Amino acid sequence: MTVDSGNVSPDVYAPTVEFTLAANAGRDLQAATDADHDAFLGCKSAAVAFCFKTLRGPSNDTGSAGWRIYRRPVSGRKTSVDRASRTAYVTYDRISQDKKWVRSYLQRGKTWEIVMQNESPLYYEPFDPSCRAGLFDTYARLHREAPVRQCESGVWTVVRLDDVRILYTRTEAFSNRPNGAETVRPTVDMSDSSIAEKLAPIFEAMLLDTKELLSSSVIVGADPPIHTRIRGSVNRAFTRGRIEALRGYIDEEVARCLEGIDHAPTFDVYADLAIQIPLRVMTRLFGLPASDDEKFQRWALMLATQLNAHETRGTATWLATHYSLISEFADYFVPLMTERAKNPGADLLSDIMAAEKDALTASEGVLFVLTLLGAGIETTANLIGNVTVELLRNPDQLDLLLADPALVDAAIEESLRYDSPFQFVFRETTSDIELSGVTIPGGSIVLNMIGAANHDPAHFNDPDRFDITRKPAHVGFGQGIHFCLGAALARMEARAALRGILPHLREFALDEEHIVDRPSLLIWGRLQIPLVRRSMATSGGTAQVGLQSEG
Ligand code: HEM
Repeated sequence: MTVDSGNVSPDVYAPTVEFTLAANAGRDLQAATDADHDAFLGCKSAAVAFCFKTLRGPSNDTGSAGWRIYRRPVSGRKTSVDRASRTAYVTYDRISQDKKWVRSYLQRGKTWEIVMQNESPLYYEPFDPSCRAGLFDTYARLHREAPVRQCESGVWTVVRLDDVRILYTRTEAFSNRPNGAETVRPTVDMSDSSIAEKLAPIFEAMLLDTKELLSSSVIVGADPPIHTRIRGSVNRAFTRGRIEALRGYIDEEVARCLEGIDHAPTFDVYADLAIQIPLRVMTRLFGLPASDDEKFQRWALMLATQLNAHETRGTATWLATHYSLISEFADYFVPLMTERAKNPGADLLSDIMAAEKDALTASEGVLFVLTLLGAGIETTANLIGNVTVELLRNPDQLDLLLADPALVDAAIEESLRYDSPFQFVFRETTSDIELSGVTIPGGSIVLNMIGAANHDPAHFNDPDRFDITRKPAHVGFGQGIHFCLGAALARMEARAALRGILPHLREFALDEEHIVDRPSLLIWGRLQIPLVRRSMATSGGTAQVGLQSEG
């Protein structure tokens, strides 16, 4: 075997890459002999030709997944070698992505005797929707190569389950602060005239005291002792009894959504079931009159659109829309909360107004209602949608569940692990702190990567396999003081929906081509999940996917 050190001009980037080698310039990576591997692993520098695997290229080369064979000499330094897996990690001082350059090198007739398998530079940005493709592969690479890493945008990602649990438990070191500003109560800079111009009239007309509103904490963005006070006030609305009281209503609504499914040519799991249940349940939870359902649902969907508008977030127009929504909310909820404080009923608003000590302010009450809309509707809809999709994609798991419907709960837990509806939440370091050997500076925004932690190979065997027989100790609902307040409710809704649709699933095929993924990397799910009746799919029927089911 020849190892040529090559001599190339300095080039554009120096990634750390993982490779497996094979001998004799062959593309059959299995063909390498032990001696080939050992010789390569033993040499100091890496001078090789390589196969370049593009999972995602840098900047201008996104989305072109697949293998390309480049042959060119590169030189680099091995930083570590794992003999057992015959894997070496090499940092290249000089390497070019320039295809022309590679071609010209080929023309010079160089042949290289070692082929290595190479991946593109690791890339993950939380608000770049292109990262959605191959996300689980990216998580696997983050686990292998950089479990604590700073993205180009400056935020840090933490993916190991053990580290994520540290983020959850060391609340003095990792503040929840950014969760408020990044969600329902964005920061407003009134010294910016373009913002002040748009927001001043909205604030003037608002029923809430603006100063109080802009300095109020949202539960999910608060740290102790403020968090302790707010959580103490709202806990009583989520007692076992309160949630249990909704069971009958949830079952009825599931049955209503599934009416006519026996004969429907198509059924959209998202539009016809998954989003309907949490929307309707939320209005009952608040004890709102049925006549306000439509208004409430419109608000919920507007809020979802706002929270998902990552590209315009923070602009004057976005802020104006957001605070107009809060204002509309306040007009409706402030008088209602005052009324419920005087004449309490068996509903969430009465519960949160009943606190004698540490009562919420009007702004905190409105922000809490807004938080529930943001945290409890889309997430639950995604859980119902995601579990259905994975069961249809994994017929062996569907068979298991049909044979033993008692596995419904296990299927839901596996879905929370496999397809976590919240893929990450925000934290901020209060001082420099070391995690997995990397120091994150104080004041950094850290993404607590729930979704990636739930695919941690150190904790979950074959993590990218959907397996309803495992009993995953996942963090899909978080952990510690911020553990999801609505977890029992979400589980109850998902259980009822899955039990309802399960007997029908064999009659339908998933129309993969028309599934619409939610573009977000934060809220993980699908916006359209069309099913087509099998008899129609196979007889070449013209079922129109995405229509409401017909009775
Ligand atoms: C499948 C559905 C759901 C998932 C996956 C989910 C997930 C989560 C997660 C991961 C957190 C922790 C946030 C953090 O650590 O910063 C959280 C908090 C929270 N969730 Fe959920 N959630 C779901 C449904 C619900 C529902 C139905 C409600 C209410 C009706 C709700 C209300 C809340 C609230 C109020 C918090 C903040 C708790 C605190 O900060 O003390 N969630 N949720």
